[in-house]
Amino acid sequence: MLTTVSHIHEHLGETVELKGWCYNFRSSGKIFFLQLRDGTGRVQVVYSKAELPSGQWDLLDALRLESSVVVTGVVKTEPRAPSGFELAGLSVQVVHLAHEGYPIGKKEHGPEFLLDNRHLWLRAESQWAVQRVRDRIITSTYEWFHENGFIKFDTPILTPTSCEGTTELFEMEYFSEEDKGGQRSAEDGKGRLGKGEPGEDAASAGGKAYLAQSGQLYLEAGIMSLGRAFDFGPVFRAEKSKTRRHLTEFWMMDAEAAFVEHEGNMAIQEALICRIVEDVLKHCAYELKVLERDLEPLKKVQAPFVHLTHEEATKKLRELGSDIGERADLGADDETLLTQHYDRPIFIEKYPAEVKAFYMKRDPDDDTRVLNNDLLAPEGYGEIIGGSQREDDYETLLKRIRDHGLDPEPFDWYLDLRRYGSVPHSGFGYGLERIVAWTCGLHHVRETIPFPRLVNRIHP
Ligand code: 4AD
Ligand code: MG
Repeated sequence: MLTTVSHIHEHLGETVELKGWCYNFRSSGKIFFLQLRDGTGRVQVVYSKAELPSGQWDLLDALRLESSVVVTGVVKTEPRAPSGFELAGLSVQVVHLAHEGYPIGKKEHGPEFLLDNRHLWLRAESQWAVQRVRDRIITSTYEWFHENGFIKFDTPILTPTSCEGTTELFEMEYFSEEDKGGQRSAEDGKGRLGKGEPGEDAASAGGKAYLAQSGQLYLEAGIMSLGRAFDFGPVFRAEKSKTRRHLTEFWMMDAEAAFVEHEGNMAIQEALICRIVEDVLKHCAYELKVLERDLEPLKKVQAPFVHLTHEEATKKLRELGSDIGERADLGADDETLLTQHYDRPIFIEKYPAEVKAFYMKRDPDDDTRVLNNDLLAPEGYGEIIGGSQREDDYETLLKRIRDHGLDPEPFDWYLDLRRYGSVPHSGFGYGLERIVAWTCGLHHVRETIPFPRLVNRIHP
């Protein structure tokens, strides 16, 4: 009967068929131990030369790492096996005999070698485990948001403006004036788009587009229709930082909610992160074991999280030996230092306005600071979320855009949100790779995304 490693426990004593790849093997000359992986898990198939037709033994003898195979065998319990089961092998069929010299072996490889072979490295059990944890985090995120009244809202990747400052933008040509001349469209006045009627798209007249750094601004438009919404997709930062926390393409989940203020915004983040960690512990026990993740720190991720104002955080950091200035942004080293002093995630609130984005609402108790928060993950991981209450007053927002040296014109639609039924609202964005790195206990985010894009890497 055809089954998968994940279902093998349902077939104790039965003969089953599995399709997969030859992860590893060894032979004593009389017994052949085949490690088979099939995408759902890994199981050992034990063949005895005495009990196999000779042609079958010869196939096993000629096997090479990562050959694809179909095997049959009888399911037995094996307490020492990770799954608790193994197969007494009856047959093997080689679907494809892999070429000689599979590049990734048992010996330690350097990170650059592994990244050059990322397309193959993904098959290693550690990388398999990381992708499964990533999938769990994505699933839990969707589940939590849907259970809490948020609607998935897809924000664009090609944008005419920047969301998080202009220094880290990927810029591209977006058609010439001539190209644009051909196809025109116009609104019919009822909010429906008509085709082929004359109309000017003033905002895109510049011929430049930028890859989105965050869907936030568009999500703010979305919640004025839907109330609460979230997006989830790739975002891009032309950051030259070569740190363990930075990618140039990464996946961000932005969430936004109408009538939610600063405190409520942090409560949403806390509940979401607790749910994600709880689900990873519940559903990914085997994956975390493969990754040798210490579970104790993850089990301590419970509400309430630590709250520090930026003022308190910088004071604490100076006590711990940092030379951070009173109004400075926290550097990576500061975040590492701080998170090693608490066993729960830390909200750092109310940063100086000058180190944060134009759209953040000022703190009514101190106009030089904003109603924002970063959320830092423990164990040295640092920032996983950035969020804030948004400026909802038209005149103030217009002034902030100008003060940040931005041209208000392409932001006309964003300003409209403050002209027609403006409401207090807040939101945040998490970096998926940083949450995966933290929950999996990985040093660098490059292992958390299938094909990492770094300053010095876009291959494979
Ligand atoms: O703090 P950031 O820049 O916030 C925003 O973009 C807001 N517009 C989000 C919002 O309010 N909707 O980015 C959010 C998160 C960071 O906390 C971090 O986890 C992750 O995105 N991040 C990166 N992850 C990997 N590589 C990079 N270069 C990252 N830059 C930010
Ligand atoms: Mg940030």
